[in-house]
Amino acid sequence: MELHIITFVRKFLAGNKWTLLCIFLIMGSANAYSQSLPQLGRDPLKDVVGAMTLKEKVQLVVGTGWGSGKLPGAAGQTFAIPRLGIPSMVLSDGPAGVRIKPIRDKDSSKTYYATAFPVARLLASTWDPSIVGNVGKAYGEEAHEYGVDVALTPALNIHRNPLNGRNFEYYSEDPLIAGEMAAAMVKGIQSQGVGTSIKHFVANNQESNRHNVNTIVSERALREIYLKGFEIAVKQSQPWTVMSSYNKVNGTYTSQRYDLLTTVLRDEWGFDGFVMTDWTGGDDPVAQMKAGNDLIEPGNKKKIKTIIDAVHSGKLEESVLDQNASRIMNIILKSPSFKKYNYSNNPDLQVHAKIARQAGAQGMVLLKNENALPLKKSDTIVAFGNASYDIIIGGTGSGEVNQAYKVQLDQGLTDAGYNVDQYFKKDYLQYLNEAKAEQSNSITEMPVSAAQAREEAENNDVAIITIGRNAGEGSDREQGDFYLNDNEKSLIKNVSQAFHAQDKKVIVVLNIAGIVDVASWRDEVDGILLAWQPGQEAGHAIADVLSGKVDPSGRLATTIPVKYFDVPSSEHFPGTPEKKPEQVIYKEGIYNGYRYYDTFDVQPAYEFGYGLSYTNFSFDDMKLSSTSFDGKLSVTTRITNNGEVAGKEVVQLYLNAPSNTLDKPTQELKGFAKTKLLEPGDSQTVTFELMPKDLASFNPKTVNWEAEAGTYTIKIGASSRDIRQTKTFKLDKMLTVEKDHDVLHPNQAIDEMKPETK
Ligand code: BGC
Repeated sequence: MELHIITFVRKFLAGNKWTLLCIFLIMGSANAYSQSLPQLGRDPLKDVVGAMTLKEKVQLVVGTGWGSGKLPGAAGQTFAIPRLGIPSMVLSDGPAGVRIKPIRDKDSSKTYYATAFPVARLLASTWDPSIVGNVGKAYGEEAHEYGVDVALTPALNIHRNPLNGRNFEYYSEDPLIAGEMAAAMVKGIQSQGVGTSIKHFVANNQESNRHNVNTIVSERALREIYLKGFEIAVKQSQPWTVMSSYNKVNGTYTSQRYDLLTTVLRDEWGFDGFVMTDWTGGDDPVAQMKAGNDLIEPGNKKKIKTIIDAVHSGKLEESVLDQNASRIMNIILKSPSFKKYNYSNNPDLQVHAKIARQAGAQGMVLLKNENALPLKKSDTIVAFGNASYDIIIGGTGSGEVNQAYKVQLDQGLTDAGYNVDQYFKKDYLQYLNEAKAEQSNSITEMPVSAAQAREEAENNDVAIITIGRNAGEGSDREQGDFYLNDNEKSLIKNVSQAFHAQDKKVIVVLNIAGIVDVASWRDEVDGILLAWQPGQEAGHAIADVLSGKVDPSGRLATTIPVKYFDVPSSEHFPGTPEKKPEQVIYKEGIYNGYRYYDTFDVQPAYEFGYGLSYTNFSFDDMKLSSTSFDGKLSVTTRITNNGEVAGKEVVQLYLNAPSNTLDKPTQELKGFAKTKLLEPGDSQTVTFELMPKDLASFNPKTVNWEAEAGTYTIKIGASSRDIRQTKTFKLDKMLTVEKDHDVLHPNQAIDEMKPETK
């Protein structure tokens, strides 16, 4: 074979001397020609832009279509212009880990699995930006080693309604938590030389008709709730990119709003990266360019033509494109592709799995514990519930990760040294296999009769029931999904009655993407662990908490209401008409989550900030740096572990502000801190700083952030309803803290919810 090739090459060379000479000459002069052209990174950016043809500029601002040729499974990429030294950048999802194809060309001898980290709402429940930052670093390293330039994460839309299918990808009902967590994630990922795209900007809080729904929301609610988290993330962490959302805000697609993408994002907040559309978002590529939505993804030929035609017809000035292209190139300059990073395709998945497990355990919330947990070492356990054997590690859609494995709950418990009932496990596995073969959709809970439950109660010390619920991109949950179904209810009833008859404990593990009702059944069980969707190490992380290896220190970053219709947005979610809502009106205004429950005196099942521990903490020695506010104020308090095991407490600072000019929520979270691991008897003093903007609310009449004169109350506690210390301070004169632009108005009057004037 080799001989044949050599003979062929010899003959070819002999017979084609002139052709070859010509090829060399052309290549040489092409090389010399490109060397004489401006090159990205070597020459000033304006020269590179100056050397681009109109078509090249437009190709750069429009992506290359669905998927990425460079990295299988990635969501998209930018257009390369080699003659100007401009490489293509790879854009890849998603919030729970790098989303790429694990097997290429059917060749499983080399795999490209990624770590499935816990979902964002679990990470937020850690109330610990340092843990989120560690996940971010691991994520960033993985993305870097797989050849990603920009990771399409974090997602920080607000939990407005529990039925939003994508709430698992988002952090919290509170913008401070959402912003701080997103900033920590961005810093972590970007510390590894890979960019991020904070998404979906903005007010994209539902999946129903997500591509077109018109979100009608007041400027105040936008500024204080929906924009706030993005503002924090942008100012603290400078993400390389921002992804505009699919929906319209007050009549116009977000990707086509200059006031949003330029006035607010850039002029007011100082964002200096580029904005990209969500995939196929918006309907007017020219308006997108003008608005400052620099990159259209995934892009197609029609959009390229539309933009070129607009320049030719004078509808779009080429200088706008120059700016869009320059912003993209400024980011390309920082990218691994530009730096020709020689990625290994071999990230340290073992180390990352450990980080996923640690974060998973830290973000689970212990909701109830009547002497049921931690488990005793000698306990024999039976696990009920499909999800005990088919654990749900993350939600569906672009936030899904292709991980190498997932640790089931029973496996986690076995690895932790527990004796797990194998007999029942066999039943479940058989049921699940048969159901999977027959059913395409979600599998109904395996029925467990009272007699079966009694038999299991004879043979085991503890019952664990895992209730599993998934959700994902593209659709919202139905109202009924908020409540447990009949199978789930009878599972809890039968198992509880049987185990309680023998004086044995029953623990429910909630393995859920979105909040479910707990109030109607919680009295039947002894313990409830809200495990969310903990990523690929799920079983280990859950066992770490159940066993007491890790003291539960997760706290709710979103309220659990007693019933669905307690949710302030429930009457107007997902909008009208209900099947395919054209518009959704945010009538609750700023009263989202605990801001509503606390101000309107609605008792939740478990309040914002709530979570139990295996130990208990006291708070004392609260001090303010001054009793009157003068530019800033610091608050300190001491936390002591008074229990018998080591643990971490989340210290929460809420502020009650005077409301003579504007109505205000009873209290708002203005600071939080997680202690280090405190051994029994140990104390830690934590400090918070309040700055003028923390005192201020957005006044739509003046378009300013204003802090009213009067008395402010600082409340420090272990949850929004477990306040341990309060102190007051005074602000002598009204402070105008910030002047904003008068933008983003609703195009219709909103009958916003308001508390009675106090
Ligand atoms: C999602 C984005 C995602 C993009 C690319 C869209 O459908 O809304 O979150 O990054 O697809 O996959």
